[in-house]
Amino acid sequence: MSTHAISGQTRVVGIFGDPITHTRSPAMQNAAFRVRHLPYVYVPFLVRPADLSKAVHSIRALNLVGVNVTVPHKERIVRYLDALSAEANLCGAVNTVVNCDGTLFGDNTDGRGFLLSLQERCLSPRRREVVVIGAGGAARALLASLIRAGSARVTILNRTQAKAQVLARTYRSLGKTRIEALPLDTLRDPALLQNAALVVNCTPVGLHGEQFLPLAYAATPRGCLFYDLLYRPELTSFLRHARAAQRPILDGRRMLLHQGALAFSLWTRTPAPLDAMAQALKRTLRNQ
Ligand code: ATR
Repeated sequence: MSTHAISGQTRVVGIFGDPITHTRSPAMQNAAFRVRHLPYVYVPFLVRPADLSKAVHSIRALNLVGVNVTVPHKERIVRYLDALSAEANLCGAVNTVVNCDGTLFGDNTDGRGFLLSLQERCLSPRRREVVVIGAGGAARALLASLIRAGSARVTILNRTQAKAQVLARTYRSLGKTRIEALPLDTLRDPALLQNAALVVNCTPVGLHGEQFLPLAYAATPRGCLFYDLLYRPELTSFLRHARAAQRPILDGRRMLLHQGALAFSLWTRTPAPLDAMAQALKRTLRNQ
């Protein structure tokens, strides 16, 4: 491991999670600090759920610059923070905390990271139809960003339909976007997909090489983007099938990059060195 020299000037940023050993963020963020010659270091912290409130207090006590927050703390940490961004408030989850002289500010850069990754593919979800598969934390962050971006319609499909219905009810009143919840097996229905500009997998199905759910890939318009928030060295079955149907595909790496770049800027008030972060991410994923 090579990081710049640690000195009395060094400031600490971290990530709270359980488990935490899989995180790719230290490689990405430390590369960015080095490129920008900032005396910062980014470290992983294994924080057990029972210790979350103490860990949050330690951000102040140890004068950390801030932290990223990952599974399983993104939602529960909200109650321990002093202020939230509109986005964090909307999705009820925080992935980035900034310590402003002891006041802890919670933000969520996942949704903005997602929109930036779409922008890179010249896809704006404004006035478009989107199909979201899953109703967990990731789906919520996406939903909030799609409403803010002005999507015409979002259909949420989830194994536990009641969860998708709660999500639809909660978010329906927040914008003009039409939000519907349908059973997961509706993915086989061509009518669901015939106007979709974007189909996003927000479930872990495929992470370990397993087959994705039956889905009418060919019913989508030719330009419909299939987006899997997962990333692994080989394509997931969701993306493999979409590619076989000659549809454009995208995995979760660019969103991971952009959410990290946005967090970097929140902590350092400096533009993120996106290329260096992307290179570092590529290297660390190659070694996974
Ligand atoms: P995250 O917060 O990272 O989004 P999560 O909250 O665990 O993760 O959400 C995962 C989503 O994937 C959930 O909507 C879950 O469906 P349930 O609400 O029915 O639990 C969905 N999911 C997980 N495993 C699945 C599987 N094998 N088939 C279909 N959906 C699955």
